[in-house]
Amino acid sequence: MEKFRTINIDRKFIESNRDIVFNAWTSLWRDSFWEFYCDGDIDYDIPYLLGIVDHGVGYAVFDEDEIVALMFGSTEKFPKALSQEEVNFFKVVRNSYKKIAFLQELVVSPEYRGLGIGSMLCKRFIEYCSDKKFDAIILYTHIDSPSIWLYKQLGFDMVDTFYVTLDYPEGKIEPRSYFVKKIRS
Ligand SMILES: CC(C)(COP(=O)(O)OP(=O)(O)OC[C@H]1O[C@@H](n2cnc3c(N)ncnc32)[C@H](O)[C@@H]1OP(=O)(O)O)[C@@H](O)C(=O)NCCC(=O)NCCS
Repeated sequence: MEKFRTINIDRKFIESNRDIVFNAWTSLWRDSFWEFYCDGDIDYDIPYLLGIVDHGVGYAVFDEDEIVALMFGSTEKFPKALSQEEVNFFKVVRNSYKKIAFLQELVVSPEYRGLGIGSMLCKRFIEYCSDKKFDAIILYTHIDSPSIWLYKQLGFDMVDTFYVTLDYPEGKIEPRSYFVKKIRS
């Protein structure tokens, strides 16, 4: 683990390393569970990532010059709700906690999994949120995602599971599990 360098990435970093970040982002997802969604190209691009870091944090893990993992978390903005059930879920969380962060994206290159990188990144985000006096962190993921093990180990409670219809790939129905980790009472 010591051989990997983790850095915080913000708007400035992304803008001056556009290609590196974009290529890492798309290839990490292409190598991951993108087959759940579609076989085509990934349209999440740099504006999407800038939108997250403008209201949150990003981390990149390097093995020498190569980015082998990325994580992004929002600390101000909730994601756009895609269904009435999601609207209700966000409402319930908002009624329960004042300051809520959202763990939005986490991906580790397949050859680097099982080394503790995903867990190290989540812990870093949890620590950041705790330092900033957040009350809870929420996240959701595909019900078959391997990350569920990791989130449970880190104290996230699965609150609900329901289906949403995605904007992209348009019309695709995704079964999602929703998690909350309470940081302060
Ligand atoms: C989920 C993911 C981020 C985990 O990253 P990682 O660096 O391999 O995770 P870690 O090495 O820190 O593992 C943490 C724990 O999760 C568990 N875990 C991770 N992947 C697992 C799997 N496929 N099955 C069972 N347990 C798993 C491990 O048991 C580990 O616990 P341990 O330390 O007691 O052994 C990585 O598999 C990934 O990028 N997957 C594809 C993208 C994705 O699903 N992202 C999350 C959606 S938002």
